[in-house]
Amino acid sequence: MEPLSATDSLSVTVNGKRRDIRGARAHTTTLEWLRESGLSGTKEGCAEGECGACAIMVARSDDSDGTVWTAVNSCLLPVAALDGQEVVTAEGLATADALHPVQAELAERGGSQCGYCTPGFACSMAAEFYRRGRGTDDIPADPGNLAGTEACGERGPNGFDLHALSGNLCRCTGYRPIRDAAYALGDPDPDDVLAARRDRPSAGPVSTVLTAPDGTFVRPATLADAVGLLAEHTEAVLVAGSTDWGVDVNLRGRRSPVVIAIDALPELRGVDVGADFVQIGAAVTLSEAERVLAGRVPLLADLFPQFASRLIRNQATFGGNLGTGSPIGDAPPALLALGARLVLASSDGQREVALEDYFTGYRTTVLRPGELILAVRIPLPLAALCGFHKISKRRFDDISSVAVAWAIDVENGVVRRARVGLGGVAATPMRARDTERALIGQPWTSETAAAAALVLGAEGTPMDDHRASARYRSAMLEQAMLKFYADAAVDQELGS
Ligand SMILES: Cc1cc2nc3c(=O)[nH]c(=O)nc-3n(C[C@H](O)[C@H](O)[C@H](O)COP(=O)(O)OP(=O)(O)OC[C@H]3O[C@@H](n4cnc5c(N)ncnc54)[C@H](O)[C@@H]3O)c2cc1C
Ligand code: FES
Ligand code: FES
Repeated sequence: MEPLSATDSLSVTVNGKRRDIRGARAHTTTLEWLRESGLSGTKEGCAEGECGACAIMVARSDDSDGTVWTAVNSCLLPVAALDGQEVVTAEGLATADALHPVQAELAERGGSQCGYCTPGFACSMAAEFYRRGRGTDDIPADPGNLAGTEACGERGPNGFDLHALSGNLCRCTGYRPIRDAAYALGDPDPDDVLAARRDRPSAGPVSTVLTAPDGTFVRPATLADAVGLLAEHTEAVLVAGSTDWGVDVNLRGRRSPVVIAIDALPELRGVDVGADFVQIGAAVTLSEAERVLAGRVPLLADLFPQFASRLIRNQATFGGNLGTGSPIGDAPPALLALGARLVLASSDGQREVALEDYFTGYRTTVLRPGELILAVRIPLPLAALCGFHKISKRRFDDISSVAVAWAIDVENGVVRRARVGLGGVAATPMRARDTERALIGQPWTSETAAAAALVLGAEGTPMDDHRASARYRSAMLEQAMLKFYADAAVDQELGS
């Protein structure tokens, strides 16, 4: 492998103007860099992905030769990760003569009062404004999913998906004027340059080396280089979407001598629906997986809207969610219920492990030094009955107190197959095996569900912490089982 030598030309195009980032450090976030560059329209509220004041738009490739304007939290993203790419901040929305339509509507309808949140809202709103096919024709029809349910959304008469704003907080307006502004947006004008930009491809991440006193940021060009570097630098930290990394850097002062970005490696970027399994690359963002799968894995379609916010999902990856080894990540319970397997890669080659064998203890996994997650495999066929219940303090954009996922097959009124995944009740995500045993072979009735609920409430060893008491967690598990059964019964009655 080549030694690490700094890339000559490191730059980001901001609002149409190319800017040098060679002076940045390996851990400089995009928000810090923008503000230090004089673009102080982008605000810092929390520096941990919770408020959206720092939202900007990044030009990303769509599935063909065009560009999707994608809103992200600039406080979490290392600026080096944007090398060679193009972003638009709140300053880049208006022209010299006129406000941008989202700014005009926010102003007109009282959607901006103290104004601190407004640049972030404007960027999240603009990304949705430019979403191709926004409008009623774009509400995903049932694509013939692989099990049989459908996704939901909250959309205005103009097709505006309110989930686009789920990562933006406002303390002044009470939100209704902001929703009014979003729902009043028309289509982009024919001479709108950001709309026209969608027709050309975006550059995408390039291979980068930025060396600075606080460390080296490197985006290797190939998987072989990435695993080679990882083997060589055992102290290195991997980043994909950097939504966990950014919090560690901003709030916990974490600094690593080497940061290896794996977000652009082709082997980690595909979503493939095969005959035997669905494979999702570890560096595919949750938003991308949601768009490409389009409801074909209903359990994941249930999970996506409950996972953080649109801003976070535009960056967060499955690999990152599993890479942390967290007991309260939302993907593991869903993937455990789906019977997922992980493909792991290192300079010694690849191996596959069942997700249920992946976690070994609190934030520890079977990943060996120098190894990374390449992809997640979900075996087919999928179970017909599935659901993901996340119990948290807020409906959206919150970490689970407890999460439970089901994948159940019922034949002739009897449960033939049941997998139940749990998060937040033990040191690791786990399968609720006692509950599975209480279901399998039993008639699929409210009595069976009630008996299984008692068993589910006793699974794991939930703890008391600031999110929830152990008793509350157990009670929520019981309720979740009853609700899952009731929802399934309603769906059955409606024939969906
Ligand atoms: C505001 C906010 C809200 C959140 N809400 C939720 C939520 O609702 N549910 C939830 O589950 N999580 C949530 N998270 C946590 C986070 O977004 C997820 O864990 C996300 O999936 C991490 O993905 P990433 O690509 O951003 O990870 P990164 O930050 O890039 O990496 C995270 C860790 O995983 C490792 N890693 C990354 N990719 C790989 C790989 N391919 N192989 C091995 N290791 C790897 C990295 O080394 C690092 O240690 C939230 C975070 C924030 C900031
Ligand atoms: S500053 Fe709050 S999300 Fe970035
Ligand atoms: S207008 Fe004040 S925070 Fe939103």
